[in-house]
Amino acid sequence: MKKRVVVYYSFEGNTKKAAEQLAEKLGADIVELRTVEEIPRKGFGKFFVGGGLALFKKCPPLQDIKSDMDKYEEIILGTPIWAGKCTPAINSFLKAYPVGEKVVAVFTCSGGGGNKGCMKDLSRRLSALKYSTALTDSRNQASKDNELHIQKLAEDIMHGE
Ligand SMILES: Cc1cc2nc3c(=O)[nH]c(=O)nc-3n(C[C@H](O)[C@H](O)[C@H](O)COP(=O)(O)O)c2cc1C
Repeated sequence: MKKRVVVYYSFEGNTKKAAEQLAEKLGADIVELRTVEEIPRKGFGKFFVGGGLALFKKCPPLQDIKSDMDKYEEIILGTPIWAGKCTPAINSFLKAYPVGEKVVAVFTCSGGGGNKGCMKDLSRRLSALKYSTALTDSRNQASKDNELHIQKLAEDIMHGE
């Protein structure tokens, strides 16, 4: 079995939950990305600061990652959608670690929109990307199907061996 890691950022827990489910199904390690400075948790600042950083593809400094990325053959990325883009922490990760060619799958978590644009952008940046799935947060009715999508993604990744 290939040595895999699920690398994700989550601000409010939805992507974290999906990352944990996927890592368990794959028997993969899991790494959570955290920025040194957090964006505001409430009010206008939450969307203004987070959305702005995402929109302009900013790369805020990340807290140290304990895992050595060199030991993995495949990386699966998980990100919320912010302003129709991936989160700034993912930009920072891809900038700090030259692992783009190991990323075989991406899962996104949104309120219900923006996945297409985000995936179009990531597909351009990740040459080995083969599989993806779009999940929604727990406020969206469609989130009842999240686990099915995660199962399908896990099967695709494992059958791609
Ligand atoms: C700063 C910010 C921007 C967001 N932008 C979008 C968006 O453009 N489209 C969308 O459908 N949801 C958007 N959302 C909602 C999140 O994508 C959604 O709640 C996601 O599941 C959160 O993942 P998390 O719980 O792992 O942080 C945004 C949320 C935040 C905080």
